Parts: sequence; C-alpha cells; structure tokens
Amino acid sequence: MGRVEKDSEDKSFFEKIWTLALHRGFVIPSAEIYGGVAGVYDFGPLGSLLVKKLVDLWRRFFIIEETNFPVYEISGATILPYEVLVASGHVDSFVDPIVVCLKCKKKIRADHLVEEELGVRVEGATIEKLTRMIRENSLRCPDCGGELSEVSLFNLMFKTEIGPLGGKTAFLRPETAQVIFIDFKRIFQVMRGKLPFGIAQVGRAYRNEISPRQGLIRLREFTQMEIEVFINPKESNNYPGIEEVANSKFRVLTREGQLKGGRVVEVTVKEAIEKGVVPNAYMAYYLFKETEFFERIGIPRDKFYFRHMMPEETPFYSGGNFDLEVELSIGVKEVVGNAYRTDYDLKSHMRHSGEDLSVDVDGEKVIPEVIEPSFGVERMVYCILEHCYREDDGRGWSWLQLPPEIAPVTALILPLVKREPLVSKAKELFRTIRKSGVFVEYDDRGSIGKRYARADEIGVPVCVTIDYQTIDDNTVTLRNRDTRNQVRVKGELLQKLLLDLSEGRLTLSALEALQS
Ligand code: ATP
Ligand code: GLY
Repeated sequence: MGRVEKDSEDKSFFEKIWTLALHRGFVIPSAEIYGGVAGVYDFGPLGSLLVKKLVDLWRRFFIIEETNFPVYEISGATILPYEVLVASGHVDSFVDPIVVCLKCKKKIRADHLVEEELGVRVEGATIEKLTRMIRENSLRCPDCGGELSEVSLFNLMFKTEIGPLGGKTAFLRPETAQVIFIDFKRIFQVMRGKLPFGIAQVGRAYRNEISPRQGLIRLREFTQMEIEVFINPKESNNYPGIEEVANSKFRVLTREGQLKGGRVVEVTVKEAIEKGVVPNAYMAYYLFKETEFFERIGIPRDKFYFRHMMPEETPFYSGGNFDLEVELSIGVKEVVGNAYRTDYDLKSHMRHSGEDLSVDVDGEKVIPEVIEPSFGVERMVYCILEHCYREDDGRGWSWLQLPPEIAPVTALILPLVKREPLVSKAKELFRTIRKSGVFVEYDDRGSIGKRYARADEIGVPVCVTIDYQTIDDNTVTLRNRDTRNQVRVKGELLQKLLLDLSEGRLTLSALEALQS
C-alpha cells in the first residue's frame, strides 16, 4: 500500500482545460438538452478530428510500421453473449467496491473514497478491509455527510438481451480484447499466421462505472485501442527485432521502488529484460514503443512512466501489469494498461467453448501467451489537451501546442483583408488544399490578430495569409504557431508542405527555415 496523490491537486487548471474543450467543441455532454448522462460524452467537430488523427497515427505507428511480425486490425461486435463473458471471468470478477450513502443514497466507489480521504493506495483491497477503513476513520458521504453502508461489490458490465421478449442474456463488451480472443483461431488461419502474431482493434467499450468523473478520465462509454500479441511461450524472450532497440530507454516505477517510496528509474530495454524488470522481451519492446508514441503526441517524457502494478491490484487475468501513468493537474492517471495476459483467455475459452484454440508450431500444439497494450483514447485526448496547453508567452491568449500530425486543423487560410481579389485567391487555395486531403479552414472574419488568436486557441499549426504580393508573385506568408515568426514561400509549394506537416514528415521549425 503506497501513498497516492490526492485527486484534487489543481482543480482550476482542470477547469480551464475542460472549459476550453467544451467551448471550442472538442467535447459535448451527451444528451445535453435532456440534462446529460453522467460519464457519457460526444466528441464535437474538433474532438472528432483530433481523435481521427490520433487513431490514424496509432495505426501507423503500431500496425503499419510494425515489420518485425504481422499485426492485423479487426473490427468486432460490441455486444457479446453471456457465455463469452463468463469464460473471460468478467461475470464473476469484473467488479468494483461500492458504498452507498444511507442518507442521500449517493453511490460511491469505495476504494477511491478511501484513497482520496486517507491518501493511501488501496486498489485490490477486500470489501471487509475497505469497510473497516471507512468505519475506523469515520469516513462519511462527501456530499451530505451522511453515514455510509457496508462496502459491497458491483459488476461494471452493462447487461442486455439479444432477441425480443426474454431473449438471450448478453453484455456490451467491457473491453475490446475478448472479441480478439474468440476470433483468434479463425484470424490466425485465414491470415496463414505464425507466432508471434498480433491482432489489433479500435472500438468502443462500456463500463457502468460507479462514479464517473473528471470529464474524459472516467467514462461509461469509451474507446480502446488494443493489441493482443500472441507469442510462443517458449520464445518469450526471442523478440524479432529486439536488438535494434536494446539501448532505448523507458521510465519505470518497479514494485520494489513503490515499496521504498516511489522513485521512477530509467532503464534500457536490454536491462529491463536481463534484470527481470519486465516479464519478457515483448513487454519491454512495447514499453519503449509507447514512450516514443507518447512523446510524439505531445506528452513530455518526464511526465509519464510505467508502474508495475502491485500483486493485489493486478487484474484477475494478468501475470503482470505495467500501467502507463501520466502526471496531470488532477493527479496521476493510468492511460495505457500493459498486461501479460499469459494463456489465461485462450485456455478459458477452450474450456468453455470446447474449441481447440491451440496453434501448430513445427508439428507441436501450442497455446500462445499474450502481451496486451490497451490504450484509452479519451484519456489520451485529455492528456494531450492538458500537456499541450500554453499561456504566459505574452501573446494575450492561450494556445495549444499540438503536434502538427494530430492537430485537428492543419492550417487556417486567410485573406489579409476581406477584399477582392484576396478573398477569391484565398478561397481557391482553400479548395485546392482540401482536395489534397488536408483539413484546412478558411477565415475572413475580424482582424488578422483575432483570426490568429482563434487559430492558436485550437492549436492550428500554420496560418497562411494571402496579401497583395500573393496576387503579384503567387507567394504566401506562413505563420508558425509556436514562434509566431512568418516566412514567405511560393504558393505552388503550399499543398505539399501542408500535407507533409499533417502527416509528420515536416516539423514547424523546418517549415520556418524555408524561405522562397
Ligand atoms: P482504472 O483503474 O482507472 O479504472 P482500469 O485499470 O480499469 O482503469 P484497464 O481495464 O486497464 O483500465 O483499461 C485499459 C485502458 O482503457 C485504460 O488504461 C484507460 O485508458 C481506458 N479506460 C478504462 N476504463 C476507462 C473509463 N472508465 N473511462 C475512460 N477510459 C477508460
Ligand atoms: N483489455 C484490458 C482492459 O480493458 O482492461
């Protein structure tokens, strides 16, 4: 049991980011005109664009550019029959401790209440222990001060029925992973697989969280990006391609480190494997890859690390979990769960379905083991907004330093003034660039300063200004969002420059160095 940061470190900073997210249409409370639904949000126009770019980048990084072994993406059903979730263990074990206020009837997640009130980590503690801690420390309802019930367990799955009038019991999937396990054999066969073999999925997951809160952090409907990497248990340290990354580093908080007070250390992939910091080479590889990915989406390296979960908090299916935890104004939050799922799921589905899910390795039947990186899209979006938020550089307004490859809008095309022929020329450029597949916006409303401010606030990397010189020599000015410096480049280069910027082949500083 270690100390944890209290949840309410800097509420005002969270409020600032959340207000920006709501006011600029990144996020919309779902069913808002009917009073909203706790823990359910819609992504608005900018949020959808950001999510699309984030997911595309993730796909490129973890699937397309993964050439050491195949990873294929599937898109599975979100509703699963009862039997699947019994076999996976979710019917029995996917539970959180709940406590109810006897006065106002508020339902509270018991472990979170204890953690917040007492500042100790209690994930995985028994309900008896939680009840005792609540009683011994005289904890009461945070809303009305009422007395609290005994702690009990609550299953987080959304139950439903397939078919009318007493149909078959089913659940909305609590993780995308199960679809991969139940489809595994067929996918492996149709893709003529051999181990190691990865199957990925991006899609919705549903959890009836007891206390949804903190905007995008704890939701009842959210998006996961998961990869199940199926490996031969006899070759778990034979990762193809591990030599190339052996000296690459990631930050880790080991179990021992937590017991001694929580110091994060940096290790190389090689050290992590050799010293047994991680259960196998695949885990080390993903921890390093995720480090690269998180830096690429704008989260500074010193703001996140991988925490080896203590045995009592490790999920029921896992032989070891390494959570990517990000430091936020509202405390440290898990954003990616990396689980060594062993052969738990395949074996269990074999037992319950009667199907043989083993694969043939040189004439021998092998049940693969699994390493699973599981990313939460909404939590990542919040981390990006918070870590890319800037003010205090004298420009008089806040701005988002979003990496150009995930920025929802790559450029704002603006005529210097709302007059012909500048307007026609700017609109022509806008249409040409949109047709090349880059999402740009056109804006001729208000002063140029106001238009820069609007662009900065939503993290548009470049403002392209069309002025009278453009009409003479077809050059345009490009304003770098980060430095506010401008360069003049030939109009015919614009389409390629913006495409390269939006796909990560060009940085803003390289763009600024160009001068026609
Ligand atoms: P927590 O301990 O915060 O409830 P978890 O351990 O249940 O998270 P996992 O089951 O490991 O989370 O899920 C994998 C990832 O899915 C998480 O790292 C997170 O990014 C995302 N996720 C899980 N639950 C939620 C939720 N209720 N709302 C938003 N994202 C979630
Ligand atoms: N698939 C891991 C999780 O959602 O917990």
